[in-house]
Amino acid sequence: MSQRYQITTFGCQMNKADSERMAGILESLGYEATEEDADLVILNTCSIRDGAEQKMYSYLGIHAQRKHRNPALTLVVAGCVAQQEGAKLLRRVPELDIVMGPQHADQLAELLARANDGEQVVATDWRDIPEDAIQPRRQSDISAWVNVIYGCNERCTYCIVPYTRGVEQSRTPEAIYQEVLGLGERGYQEITLLGQNIDAYGRDISTNLAHLLTVIHDVPNIERIRFATSHPRYFTEELIRTCAELPKVCNHFHIPFQSGDNQVLSRMARGYSHERYRTIIAKVREYIPTAAISGDAIVGFPEETEEQFLNTVQLVEDLQFELVNTAAYSPRPGTPAASWPHQIPEDVKTDRLQRLNRAVAQSAYNCSQTYLGRVEPVLVDALNPKDPTQVQGRTYSNRLVFLPGDYQALRGQIIPVRITEARTFSLTGIQEV
Ligand code: SAH
Ligand code: SF4
Ligand code: F3S
Repeated sequence: MSQRYQITTFGCQMNKADSERMAGILESLGYEATEEDADLVILNTCSIRDGAEQKMYSYLGIHAQRKHRNPALTLVVAGCVAQQEGAKLLRRVPELDIVMGPQHADQLAELLARANDGEQVVATDWRDIPEDAIQPRRQSDISAWVNVIYGCNERCTYCIVPYTRGVEQSRTPEAIYQEVLGLGERGYQEITLLGQNIDAYGRDISTNLAHLLTVIHDVPNIERIRFATSHPRYFTEELIRTCAELPKVCNHFHIPFQSGDNQVLSRMARGYSHERYRTIIAKVREYIPTAAISGDAIVGFPEETEEQFLNTVQLVEDLQFELVNTAAYSPRPGTPAASWPHQIPEDVKTDRLQRLNRAVAQSAYNCSQTYLGRVEPVLVDALNPKDPTQVQGRTYSNRLVFLPGDYQALRGQIIPVRITEARTFSLTGIQEV
């Protein structure tokens, strides 16, 4: 019987894309996917906040116990906690076979071979990620993630990512074009270009995101092109103009702001003011009036006063976001802000988070209402998990839409849908014939 693997993914889209690549490697080695009793378990971890890290330790504890009953089990910790902790993880969980950072995902086969020879492998050295021939095993056959830039050159004072993913490394436009071409040939309709700061793409190889979008725009079959995550610093007018001019580039932009207060932004080392952020959003809406904007925000950053927090609420109310991912500040090991005095008590953070979430929900609800009565092209990509008589899909602006329909007949199609109901974070409609 062939070996069976299970990968649990804890992190962001890049972490998910890495899992798909590791799954691709395993399947090329003859492994089969399973949900339980796997011979090989990979935890692809995230360390953006303490909660994500603790969750993975509790999973790891369960698998380590299993290994005592089944010594043949191979146990791997990959991703950002692996990079952050390195060999320390082996001391904490001696049952581990491999600790591998995100830059080593493409080397899984070699690392497994070493582990099978009896070595406890730690692969966390920084390296240039080469182009490779790995065929990821993608979750979807409609919509695909495409890595375009690895790493992050910023040093936001709260953030662990530069310490786990290293410096920026852009793939060449030619390599990305070839990958997208292959996806189009295999019937993919939508791609999302990925990077921690996607709009910083190309700085290290003398090109930029606007140029890349132009290069890949006309790939046959690909109908929708998205990209995430954008950093306000690199969101240039040239990029906005290019998005407006290229019809396949979707009108949804995820541009985290983190705070609406200049002093907090400065202590976060974000490199922009709230006025500058507002100017960027105004520019986006000037070129693309239907643009849907989403973002990320952190409450309870060290020293944040009530007044400074209220400036974040104000920004949300003023700019009307489709969605904001909010989080309470979580001190991360080795980052500057973690050791600063004047950390905000947990109860204050929780209270601010709830109040910000109310403003976010109101803003999302207001955005939803603007869809009522409109006919939107929807790419159908799944069955509604709560109602099998309905399918679900996304508008061009990335809003989730449910509608009655037969999934087998509609999957992977872009159909016109009249929006009849608008809730905070989703819409319902009927197919327009
Ligand atoms: N590169 C992107 C964001 C990557 S991390 C950017 O710069 O915008 C994803 C999100 O996690 C961040 O936008 C931030 O809102 C949140 N985050 C990062 N570190 C955090 C921390 N220490 N505590 C709470 N939230 C954090
Ligand atoms: Fe983290 Fe800042 Fe880099 Fe985003 S830009 S990944 S928040 S350091
Ligand atoms: Fe988490 Fe690493 Fe992504 S810390 S958010 S998995 S880059």
